[in-house]
Amino acid sequence: MARLEGKIAIVTGGAKGIGRHYSQALAAEGARVMIADIADGKDLVAEIAGRHGADSVASMKCDVSDEKAIKNLVAQTVERFGQIDILVNNAAVYSTLTPRSFLEWDPDLWDKVMAVNVRGSYLMVRHVAPHMMERRSGKIINIASGSPYKGVPRMLPYVTSKGAILAFTRALSRELGQYGIAVNSLSPGYILSDTGLQNTQHVEDERVPVRNARAFKRDAYPEDLLGTLVFLASNDSDFITGQSIVVDGGAINN
Ligand SMILES: NC(=O)c1ccc[n+]([C@@H]2O[C@H](COP(=O)([O-])OP(=O)(O)OC[C@H]3O[C@@H](n4cnc5c(N)ncnc54)[C@H](O)[C@@H]3O)[C@@H](O)[C@H]2O)c1
Repeated sequence: MARLEGKIAIVTGGAKGIGRHYSQALAAEGARVMIADIADGKDLVAEIAGRHGADSVASMKCDVSDEKAIKNLVAQTVERFGQIDILVNNAAVYSTLTPRSFLEWDPDLWDKVMAVNVRGSYLMVRHVAPHMMERRSGKIINIASGSPYKGVPRMLPYVTSKGAILAFTRALSRELGQYGIAVNSLSPGYILSDTGLQNTQHVEDERVPVRNARAFKRDAYPEDLLGTLVFLASNDSDFITGQSIVVDGGAINN
C-alpha cells in the first residue's frame, strides 16, 4: 500500500522548483495534495490528476507572507479535502537571489526574504496547526538548508532565514509534541533544480566547489530529497520530532 494513503498535504511553493517534485512524490504515495504557490500550479494539477485521479490534487495561488491569503488557503483545503495531515513549508525566496557581499543587501530585500522564508512558515503553522491539534496528529516538515550549518557566504539574509527555520523547528516541536504533531526540518544541500539552474551566477559559484566538498562527489537533484520527505511525512518517522535531516551527500562533514 502507498505510504500516505488517506493523508492530505499542503505544499507551499509546490508548483515550481524542488516543491514541484515534493507535490508529485506525496501524490505518488497516495496523499491528496493542495499546491500553494505564487506561481500558477495548473499544469502540475493536470499532470498529477492525470496520473492519480481528479480528486488527488488542487492548487491555489497564495503568497505565504500574506496572512489573509493563508487563512483562505487553509479554509479551502479543509473544505475540499476535509482535513490536513501534512504541511510542507517549502516556499522561499531563494533562486531569484543574486549572491553578494553582506554590505550590499538592500534592507527591503532582507525584509522580504524574512517575510517569506520565516514569517511565511510561521503563518502557515499558525493556521494549519489548530486543525492538526484537534485531530491530535500531524506532520510539519520545514524546508531549511545545509547553508546555515556551513555558513555559506554571500547569501546572508537567506542563510540567516534558514538558520531561523532550524530554531523554529526545534522550539515548535516542544509545543506541538503534546498534540502528537511531529515538527522536523529537511535541510537540502545545493540542488540543481530547474529554477536553480536559471540562476547562472549561483550555478557558476556553487556547482563545482559544492560537488568537491561532498563525500559523494556528484551533483544533487530534487529526486535525491524525495525519500527523506516521504519518510518525514509518513508513520515510519512517528517518534522523530524537532530534528533536521541534512540531505547533502556528506558536504557538511567537511
Ligand atoms: N535549490 C537548492 O539548492 C536548495 C538548497 C537548500 C534549500 N533549498 C530550499 O528548498 C526550497 C525550494 O527551493 P527551490 O530551489 O525550488 O527554490 P525556488 O526559489 O525555485 O522555489 C521556491 C518556490 O516558492 C515559490 N514562492 C516564492 N515566494 C513565494 C511566496 N511569497 N508565497 C508562496 N510561494 C512562493 C516559488 O514560486 C517557487 O515555486 C526553498 O525553501 C529553498 O530555500 C533549496
